[in-house]
Amino acid sequence: CGIIGFTGHKPAQDILLDGLQRLEYRGYDSAGIAFFKDNGNHISIRKTAGKVNDLRAICDDENNSVTGIGHTRWATHGGVTNANAHPHKFGDVTLLHNGIIENYHELIKKYDLKGKLKSDTDTEVAAAVISLNYSGDPKAAIRAAVKELKGSFAFCIMFKGHPGEVYAVRNVSPLVAAHTDGEGSFIASDLTAFIEFSNSYFVVPEYHILTLKDEGITLEDLEGKTVEPEYLTVDWDVSTAQKDGYPHYMIKEIHEQPRALADTINPRVKDLLPNFEDDNIPDSLFEGVHDITVIACGTAMYAGNVGRTLIQNKFGIPVTVAIASEFRYERPTIDENTLVIVVSQSGETIDTLEALRLAKKYTQRTLAIVNVKGSTIARESGHVLYTHAGPEIAVASTKAYSVQVAAMYLVGCKLGLVTGKASESEIREFISGLKNVPSMIEEVLKLEEKISVQANRMVNAEDAFFIGRGLDYTLSMEGALKLKEISYIHAEAYAAGELKHGTISLITEGTPVIAIATQQSVYSKVVSNIREVKARGAYVILISKDKEITDNTVCDVHVSIPEVIDELSVFESVVVLQILAYYTSVGKGNDPDQPRNLAKSVTVE
Ligand code: G6P
Repeated sequence: CGIIGFTGHKPAQDILLDGLQRLEYRGYDSAGIAFFKDNGNHISIRKTAGKVNDLRAICDDENNSVTGIGHTRWATHGGVTNANAHPHKFGDVTLLHNGIIENYHELIKKYDLKGKLKSDTDTEVAAAVISLNYSGDPKAAIRAAVKELKGSFAFCIMFKGHPGEVYAVRNVSPLVAAHTDGEGSFIASDLTAFIEFSNSYFVVPEYHILTLKDEGITLEDLEGKTVEPEYLTVDWDVSTAQKDGYPHYMIKEIHEQPRALADTINPRVKDLLPNFEDDNIPDSLFEGVHDITVIACGTAMYAGNVGRTLIQNKFGIPVTVAIASEFRYERPTIDENTLVIVVSQSGETIDTLEALRLAKKYTQRTLAIVNVKGSTIARESGHVLYTHAGPEIAVASTKAYSVQVAAMYLVGCKLGLVTGKASESEIREFISGLKNVPSMIEEVLKLEEKISVQANRMVNAEDAFFIGRGLDYTLSMEGALKLKEISYIHAEAYAAGELKHGTISLITEGTPVIAIATQQSVYSKVVSNIREVKARGAYVILISKDKEITDNTVCDVHVSIPEVIDELSVFESVVVLQILAYYTSVGKGNDPDQPRNLAKSVTVE
């Protein structure tokens, strides 16, 4: 969920609605705002199931209130209904919430709330607990309530009779805040919500109570001690979060990949060798590393998989890729010689964060590959290598994936050198190829139209299969995920050689199979596997480095990507897969930027 609060000397409504629109990537199944009326004696709520635009439609143009809070929801407890949309009001307290209150059943019993609640949410229970602890002092009520709440939360809270004030507190779920002389005080799940007004902000520490007023923000711990916020600055400018004439963020972000990759790679290369001095990552982090565990979720995990294949095959260092939500509950097999790499675009994914916290109990060697500066994972990891994709707004990750793979490759090269598994000359050759990737992608982007035509074939498909071997197999997982996320077509990635051991039974006349064959050592094997599906009626789209395919019995369509060394072809192939998924989604009339049921940043477990 995305939350925002504002109080100042300008009307709050537009600030809240515009901020919520920018936060929609965190969820968009319902939206709501609350604001003071009648000199603070009344708190009004507008909320609805639907997107922020649906909320806008039910808001009053004449609203001049200068204080309010807003929410865009990704449902956890309770279905997508108007009643379950935030904010929630109980007594004098109106609040909105990101996170999950795990002990809400116990609290319903303890506070005798049965029959007194209007929604099915855990959030309304939290509002009740604060309200029932309230006798005129907002901070005292919050202090008492948070001691009772178990789980993760970020709250923005308004108290009847306290106009001009917004309170906030959090545990785990993120909150950032800033004060500007021009407008007033802001709080939000992340900076994008108010970056238009301020590019500096501070991260709200856990279990600290924040009081926002027009004249400033005060921060105090649960003992009532005042704490000075530590302001950070970002160098994003707001224009990077606009569509720039593209119909959707996703296609804009696909096109940004050459720039994002150059920004991520070039500063880390000196004399064609990996150099992390500016990132303050010492070589000692890599010395004596026996093995690597990569922990991540979703697309970031698939980027980790590509990194695994490269590092293990090129440098012989064993790499395990763990799904963060599984790693947390398995018996850890890591020790002080394990390098733990966590990969996350947002740096806020709760499962990844908690997995990092667990891993830190076993090894001091932790490295985060993160896109968002100052995010929780970046702050808590021993070291951080920032990817420089810039803000990624579309829910389906594209440019963030490519730069994560590039970062994994650079880390692999560093490891290879430091551990003596690779020579300088080998690494130099590899890195000179890596530096050339952005211009190769420019070439692939020229294939957009040809690929978009293929999407017309895909729109009516019910299933699709992505096959490849080696790096192409790990890449095909991301290709299948992209298609599933935004086109809602069931898609599976299969190791090309494994298909015949069961799943080939699903291939029927016309089933699309996207085959990736860029790895020389297994090329002819993949071609054999393609023939196996072709013989059963599949419609094959082949991605390879061949200039052309003369034997037209191999595939139905051939997408030829520029010649490059095998390890680097993933950067090219993924662009083809992204474009294919994008146009399939558009062709089906979906919104590729905001696919159903998903959220970009998942800050619940
Ligand atoms: C969500 C998004 C995915 C993303 C994953 C991990 O599920 O929908 O696109 O890959 O979270 O996010 P992170 O910010 O940790 O990379």
